[in-house]
Amino acid sequence: MNTRTTPLPGGTWTMGDLTVTRFGYGAMQLAGPGVMGPPADHDGALAVLREAVRLGITHIDTADAYGPHVTNRLIREALHPYPDSLHVVTKVGAHRDAGGGWPPAREPDDLRRSVHDNLENLGVETLDLVNLRLGDASGPRPGSLAKAYETLVELQQQGLIRHLGLSNATADQIAEAQAIAPFVCVQNHYNLAHRQDDDLVDRLAEQGVAYVPFFPLGGFTPLQSATLSDVAARHGVRPLSVALAWLLHRSPNILLIPGTSSVAHLRENVAGAGLTLSGEDLAALDTIGR
Ligand SMILES: NC(=O)c1ccc[n+]([C@@H]2O[C@H](COP(=O)([O-])OP(=O)(O)OC[C@H]3O[C@@H](n4cnc5c(N)ncnc54)[C@H](OP(=O)(O)O)[C@@H]3O)[C@@H](O)[C@H]2O)c1
Repeated sequence: MNTRTTPLPGGTWTMGDLTVTRFGYGAMQLAGPGVMGPPADHDGALAVLREAVRLGITHIDTADAYGPHVTNRLIREALHPYPDSLHVVTKVGAHRDAGGGWPPAREPDDLRRSVHDNLENLGVETLDLVNLRLGDASGPRPGSLAKAYETLVELQQQGLIRHLGLSNATADQIAEAQAIAPFVCVQNHYNLAHRQDDDLVDRLAEQGVAYVPFFPLGGFTPLQSATLSDVAARHGVRPLSVALAWLLHRSPNILLIPGTSSVAHLRENVAGAGLTLSGEDLAALDTIGR
């Protein structure tokens, strides 16, 4: 699946007809505190997005719920008209309440409204890839996705969405979706210290479906572990670089969308993810999330 050369670590992966760099960028950190409201540094947020594209990143992850509407409008302001190679992936299925919570919004009307909001705020006629976000802020929850997923399939048939994906999904929900219509990625919580989806990563790899870990660096509280620090010290790099390099080593279908609001961190992450890990490193790192 690594079909094109790219200077970025990890090469590329193809989802449907979208070829993206495995090193992508997650835009959630660009909104204000608690992912609510505008960023403190508007120009700094635009600079991060432009630097991502300048570095060759062709996969940006977002949601209209970030802000709400804030990150999508920043992406539009920074990058529209989008280069043909750039693919902006969004998600629907939750909105924001006054307290900054993420209540589910998965009724057909909620989903239609959210798809139209994404189209408008990103300034496009078709969304490249839309993830149906399931569960809640504490993780995946059981329950049928049929009604919500079928609504997105309908919007896809109308030409508003090119490809579908699932997020925060259980194995049963993934199987249920598979019987309804194809999807090209699953975006779930996964990193060096949070490996509940290990089997799912491998199963999806066999099926040619991308696995896109959210919180690849640990999310709002970045990963800390003595073992991670030891491996990083051996190579003279930052621990978070090792966490990203480990994900690229873990499986070829893993796509990275680390978040940052800092150009310096973005550059550090791109440079660091290319680290080659030895068998000894991988064996030590494997003990962290077990
Ligand atoms: N589907 C879902 O339900 C869901 C949920 C959460 C997130 N997501 C997506 O996943 C993406 C990634 O998740 P995330 O941004 O929440 O978490 P993350 O990528 O695991 O970590 C982001 C945190 O790491 C810090 N960071 C990044 N690079 C760093 C560096 N080199 N040195 C020190 N700190 C660094 C960032 O702070 P600085 O800003 O200071 O760099 C930020 O606090 C999001 O942007 C979003 O697109 C999806």
